[in-house]
Amino acid sequence: MDSLHGYIEQKRDSWLQELSDFLRIRSISTDPEYAGEVRRGAEFVAEALGRAGIEHVEMIQTSGHPLVYGEHVHSADAPTVLCYGHYDVQPPDPLNEWKSEPFEPTVRDNNIYARGAADDKGQVMIQLKAVEALRAKTGSIPLNLKFIFEGEEETGGHAIEEYVPKNAEKLKADVALVCDTALFAPDLPTLCIGLRGLVYTEIEVEGASHDLHSGLYGGVAPNALNALSWILAGLKSPDGKIRVPGIYDDVQAPARSEKSSWRRLPFDADRMRADEIGSDALTGEKRDPLERIWARPALDVHGIVGGYTQPGAKTVIPARAAAKVSIRLVPNQSPKTVFSALEQRVQELAPPGVKVRVKLIHQAPPLLINPDNPYIGKAAKVFAQVFGKKTVFVRSGGSIPVVGVFAEHLKLPVVMMGFGLPDDNLHAPNEKFSLGNFFRGVETVAKFFEAVAKEKPARASAPAA
Ligand code: BES
Ligand code: MN
Ligand code: MN
Repeated sequence: MDSLHGYIEQKRDSWLQELSDFLRIRSISTDPEYAGEVRRGAEFVAEALGRAGIEHVEMIQTSGHPLVYGEHVHSADAPTVLCYGHYDVQPPDPLNEWKSEPFEPTVRDNNIYARGAADDKGQVMIQLKAVEALRAKTGSIPLNLKFIFEGEEETGGHAIEEYVPKNAEKLKADVALVCDTALFAPDLPTLCIGLRGLVYTEIEVEGASHDLHSGLYGGVAPNALNALSWILAGLKSPDGKIRVPGIYDDVQAPARSEKSSWRRLPFDADRMRADEIGSDALTGEKRDPLERIWARPALDVHGIVGGYTQPGAKTVIPARAAAKVSIRLVPNQSPKTVFSALEQRVQELAPPGVKVRVKLIHQAPPLLINPDNPYIGKAAKVFAQVFGKKTVFVRSGGSIPVVGVFAEHLKLPVVMMGFGLPDDNLHAPNEKFSLGNFFRGVETVAKFFEAVAKEKPARASAPAA
């Protein structure tokens, strides 16, 4: 047992308290009513950076929620890691399905239950505690570190997307470390090398100028909700094909070697169906389920509003209706192209008598990282050391908008090293984070910092004397 491990063991209780304080903050970024709480989340992170010994901590005001930046830059020769996470969380609804309060963190079976536990406050804390543990072990921080934390990842990451390209020099680093993903299976060290992108839209339908009596006008008046249903039904067929012309044109098929590595993963489609999803069948294209989630676009309807939904009956023809619809994108697809194709398809499907608008709410590019870079190699090695198994490489079907921006504008390799688990209930009731993974996560990230510190990156090396 090295002293890093010993230090972490000894900090268990106090770190758990600190994480609980963080989790009590209701930093729900999508709901304007919680803007003050999101700010409290930013303040908590700024103070925690200070406590970890990071200097120049800054709260950056934006048109949305604040960004928090901090750095420890002491040596021009040492490599620099840019660390990223988000302190905002998803709304906790439906509230009555939580076994304990979403913002009153509770430990059961060595898991901490709270909204944001795994996504992403627990993992933000991992990065901060890794700095603390490394400093305790070595007496100093042996590399340059930059941190940027955002408070609107869950709602599209607008502010950081604007900030990163404008501050490329300030954020300059040799590698980015993103802790916002999950292990493929419990105890299996996992690096994520691909994310899907996203085009998130709202489809608005307007029919009559006002709601109408369905007896007096049913048969002649346009019904916004019927029209919307028709449109939505036309976007996807039951066999999982998205019915948007051209949608598959740019889809890049995964390399044969990557696909065969997926077949070696401990994946059981039936277990996913039964334990994670809880349905009678998996849906979608006739392809391997992992390929469907990681390398194929997906269209989903997230919510529909319109008409009468209160108890009993009301015979009304709704004048308006709206739906939230998104398409997940895979490598080589462009958010812009896909949005235009969707918009055109929706307009073509619109029946007579209604006006339809498709609004783009947010977008994220898809991402695929070449795993043959030395930082991924170092990450895989320390991950395997701490977890005692060989590290696997996976993609994820989720999106983290800024990661593509890092890759594109900062031109650096990205290491996505996350410590969640497949059954952590992200975005759902009873979100949890394994405390075992929390502490092993701190150790892994600290060891990653150490491994990076040991070797000067090739492009920063001095000319031969
Ligand atoms: N951390 C998740 C994405 C994720 C989860 C990636 C697990 C890999 C493994 C992130 O917070 C998230 O939920 N992203 C949103 C992005 C959107 C709101 C722009 C998503 O994927 O829906
Ligand atoms: Mn996240
Ligand atoms: Mn999330």
